[in-house]
Amino acid sequence: MARSHHIGRRDFIKLVTAAVGSFIAAGIGIPAIGYLIHPALKTGQGKEAWIPLGPLENFEIGKPTLVNFTRTRVNGWERTSNSYGVYVVRTSADEVVVFSNVCTHLGCRVNWKEEIGAYVCPCHDAEFAADGSIVRGPQPRPLDRYEGEALRIQDGIVEILFTEG
Ligand code: FES
Repeated sequence: MARSHHIGRRDFIKLVTAAVGSFIAAGIGIPAIGYLIHPALKTGQGKEAWIPLGPLENFEIGKPTLVNFTRTRVNGWERTSNSYGVYVVRTSADEVVVFSNVCTHLGCRVNWKEEIGAYVCPCHDAEFAADGSIVRGPQPRPLDRYEGEALRIQDGIVEILFTEG
């Protein structure tokens, strides 16, 4: 007896239902899996970025002004926020100097002391002059400064090219 190659109506409906079900499952499942694993595939967020510090006109000429900012790093599911600070010193109507506030000895944060006209580190008493040079203390070099390619004034906004270490 010859076997029929025709499928019955019931089998046909089962096949169509299974196919439609598979399409729906794939349509929902694939984006859901992507959503779940996407953060795990992300690493870092570019270590180098232009950081806006504020309008040049807001900085008083000759007065070091501390500007703090936060950078957030994404590593998979982990987000890490770090705070940084720089001193902006407007030297004329259209010029500016920016110093890192990280002491070049062991990395503590220096503070500008108006009364003595110097940056002072609270950790081991390093003292830096207003231009960032060494006055006294154990630090091996002047304060790091942003200049040249790492400093710009864009549409009146002072920006530094910041590299996260
Ligand atoms: S970390 Fe600043 S003097 Fe040591």
